[in-house]
Amino acid sequence: AKVHHHNFVVQATPVKRLCKIHKIITVNGMYPGPTLEVQNGDTLVVNVVNKARYNVTIHWHGVRQIRTGWADGPEFVTQCPIRPGKSYTYRFTIQGQEGTLWWHAHSSWLRATVYGALIIRPKEGESYPFPKPKHETALLLGEWWNKNPIDVVRQATRTGAAPNVSDAYTINGQPGDRYNCSGKDTLIVPIDSGETNLLRVVNSALNQQLFFKVAKHKFTVVGADASYVKPFTTSVLMLGPGQTTDVLITADQPPAKYYIAAQAYASAQGAPFDNTTTTAILEYKSASCSAKCNSTKPHMPRMPAFNDTATATSFTTKFRSPRKVQVPTKIDHNLFFAVGLGLNNCPRGVSRSRCQGPNGTRFTASMNNVSFVLPSNFSMLQAHQQGIPGVFTTDFPANPPRKFDYTGNVSRSLWQPITGTKVYRLKYGETVQLVLQGTSIFTAENHPIHLHGYDFYILAEGFGNFNPSRDTAKFNLVDPPLRNTASLPVGGWTVIRFVADNPGVWLLHCHLDVHITWGLAMAFVVENGVGELQTLEPPPADHPVC
Ligand code: C2O
Repeated sequence: AKVHHHNFVVQATPVKRLCKIHKIITVNGMYPGPTLEVQNGDTLVVNVVNKARYNVTIHWHGVRQIRTGWADGPEFVTQCPIRPGKSYTYRFTIQGQEGTLWWHAHSSWLRATVYGALIIRPKEGESYPFPKPKHETALLLGEWWNKNPIDVVRQATRTGAAPNVSDAYTINGQPGDRYNCSGKDTLIVPIDSGETNLLRVVNSALNQQLFFKVAKHKFTVVGADASYVKPFTTSVLMLGPGQTTDVLITADQPPAKYYIAAQAYASAQGAPFDNTTTTAILEYKSASCSAKCNSTKPHMPRMPAFNDTATATSFTTKFRSPRKVQVPTKIDHNLFFAVGLGLNNCPRGVSRSRCQGPNGTRFTASMNNVSFVLPSNFSMLQAHQQGIPGVFTTDFPANPPRKFDYTGNVSRSLWQPITGTKVYRLKYGETVQLVLQGTSIFTAENHPIHLHGYDFYILAEGFGNFNPSRDTAKFNLVDPPLRNTASLPVGGWTVIRFVADNPGVWLLHCHLDVHITWGLAMAFVVENGVGELQTLEPPPADHPVC
């Protein structure tokens, strides 16, 4: 196995998008940032130097970080931020994961522009479980704001209002030729007739689930979240932010240009979203393609409607592990988390007129009625490891405070979240079953729920209220997919299982950043087990403290 050294300089960089020059925060002046390419078993050593005027941290999304929680990255959870002028070296090893992951800033809304791909190939002498494609292309779907995204979120938290939606979607940082001033920079993906390309599709958008298609072509899905899946064909993908999907695409159409396109899947009723379409071009390079076929306009795929939940769900429920897996059957913690948006009173001391959510309220979000607040004096991991009191409490509830029709139209007086930094404790090796239940206190919405430090099996998903006596029968205990981010369907539920075999403090949150801003998060504290291999490593010497 190799050790890969990288230097990430976080800095302000001028880039031109949608006709104007903007100063954005980048890594090494690149947008998106550098692609990291490794093999399963390799070690990454990434020195992050902060030359920007914001605090920053980097999260290696989906990397298990076994015993190396200090390198996970979410600010105030596993580390204090890297202050301007300071640096921190992340050091971790890829263990048993293959496919596509990505890295992103985990500090305020910086990940809008600070992100990149992490490609993990099989070990030396091992191969993909599918014929080796001629080409591989990472496609990072993103979201672009003409305003500084940090200002967008600051404005929203000051007023309690919903933040502005983005001005464009992007593929590898480019909006594509359907936007003003963007045509000549549209990403071109060349292909020869008959060739196969492995597309590594990442949804790195901040706040939007996205449909993804290529005109007239089908995909064979072979992986997701750095686990292989039982291959299946589809003409449309849907990815929530945080999710990755690896697909094979074969150039089996007449030589021409075909749009690669992504646009919103906005499941919430009345929720504002960017309704534009980002495009790249799949361009046949075959000698058979005369000057004419490349001068004509690209074919455009027919995209699903923005609220096409049937298409989204039929895609997300197709995933299976490639073969039978050992799903843990003895459950130590049977948890039920009600997950959703809500409205709350203005904070004490803030006048009603400054609270710009509906009817003088502010937007909030919670799990089991707790709206998560980050600490500010210590990271939770440091507090856990050193036994520092007062940073978090261990009373995150295993169940919601009361039971009602979660997907029905209930009055918000039934449920107003409290705020807190609450964790749920697990002993090393314990097994967790977690039912994620969407609520519609304010509005029902999909939530891409991401767990740090783990992959989990998705046993089942469905609509309405989870009903154990009816729905347990639907659990796939044979070949459920292994993922790090689950799409909790709008007005529905998802059931996941994992074994707590990685000691540390691990965030569970909705990967729509606006929902984290509103508090849609909690954390698991996983205790050390017995012996070195079950114990969190000591923090690196340069680990940032507050
Ligand atoms: Cu990709 Cu906590 O995030």
